[in-house]
Amino acid sequence: MKNKFPNNFLWGASTSAYQVEGGWNQDGKGPSIQDVRTNIPEGTTDFKIASDHYNKWQEDVTLMAEMGLKSYRFSISWSRIMPLGYGEINKEGLKFYKNLIKELKKYNIEPIITMYHFDLPYGLEKLGGWLNPDIVQYFEKYAETLYTHFGEYVKYWLTINEQNVMILFGEIVGIDLSKSENKTKDLYKINHHMMLAQAKAIIKCHKIVKNGLIGPAPNINPVYANSNDPIDQIAAFNMRHFRNWFYLDTCVFGEYNKNVINYLIKNNAMFQITDEEQKILKEGKPDFIAFNYYASSTAKFTLEEDFESIADQQKIKSLKGLYHQVKNDNLPKTQFGWEIDPLGFRIVLRELWDRYNLPLMITENGIGGYDTLENGVVNDQYRIDYYQLHLAELKKAILLDGVNVIGYNPWSAIDLVSTHEGVKKRYGFIFVDRDEFDLKSLKRYPKKSFFWYKKLIAENGENL
Ligand code: BG6
Repeated sequence: MKNKFPNNFLWGASTSAYQVEGGWNQDGKGPSIQDVRTNIPEGTTDFKIASDHYNKWQEDVTLMAEMGLKSYRFSISWSRIMPLGYGEINKEGLKFYKNLIKELKKYNIEPIITMYHFDLPYGLEKLGGWLNPDIVQYFEKYAETLYTHFGEYVKYWLTINEQNVMILFGEIVGIDLSKSENKTKDLYKINHHMMLAQAKAIIKCHKIVKNGLIGPAPNINPVYANSNDPIDQIAAFNMRHFRNWFYLDTCVFGEYNKNVINYLIKNNAMFQITDEEQKILKEGKPDFIAFNYYASSTAKFTLEEDFESIADQQKIKSLKGLYHQVKNDNLPKTQFGWEIDPLGFRIVLRELWDRYNLPLMITENGIGGYDTLENGVVNDQYRIDYYQLHLAELKKAILLDGVNVIGYNPWSAIDLVSTHEGVKKRYGFIFVDRDEFDLKSLKRYPKKSFFWYKKLIAENGENL
């Protein structure tokens, strides 16, 4: 298709604080749950130094500008702003992000801020973390602090990254319920607190940030039925609700999805909702929906329990009598075993637009793989192929299907540490010279995909 993407389309890239910054205890930052995490798999690095972006941010922004990025989606480390998560504010933390935002603006790169990306301040974890209802007010205060200090420069805000991932496979992204007596009940209580925190942050944003726009950022997959047996269609329907719509329906419509609620009641895991809370959920309406897309899911009906331990974001635990996730033999896989499904991207864009009719922003999409630096060059053709296929589908969704998409921020701008598979699983357009435990030079090298993306942005996707 020779047509271009819409004018002012936000061609960007993404990162998150704990995966890219390092500087875990520099300049007054308090520890986060990611800094004290004990379940890092053997042979995999921790997050203490990551890509050292905290000390190399200026160089990194220069490279982003050279790539021609129109937006940069990054998260703020809560414990860099408030070392304990509440109370005292760390001026050095504010300064770091203000400098970063100003530098981005200097190059006309639109900052897109995620307020929370898996890194709860350890000070709050000690008070019970997301299970403690007080977290709602702490999050609101944190959000208010961000709006007050950065609202003047930042238009796009994201509340919580992949809330659904934290509820569905929380172990790897900071939800530890190993000591819980009713795990399901506690999980959905946590979810309720996140929903309220999000709604309150949305309400505050609309009050404080002039022209500010705010939305959630879940991880959304289209869900296919494994066969044309109607019972598998029901399973797919169930999985869509448990995996996707439960989170977005509450955010957009202010109502909990009945399918999930009925399951919780039946399983003695229902949480309390007061009238006041119901009102807050109704009031905190988002302006757009951001979402992360990596793959699709396939569901079949099952009466068996799936006892397999949780794999990761792309493999969720079965619910007996509701759904069981199976692999899709029609799809190729990444080097790390995630299914690759560009058409699924178009499907999910259409589904989201049909269901919610709100502008969409892609806040993650990308492929993790092994990259090597040879004579200063990183040939990541497989990444270009992946993007090429996905962007062709995005273009069709916008230009043929009429979906309103305002931006595309793939994962990731620069190599960083994966949630549970270390530095070796690389995602960036920019290579960072370090290994799992050998920090090497930490020098930056644009990969082949960097130059490909630069050209694509300059042409506004005309040649896709
Ligand atoms: C998303 C997260 O789930 O997927 C990111 O928002 C994460 O934080 C990305 O890095 C890729 O997943 P992984 O597990 O390969 O790092």
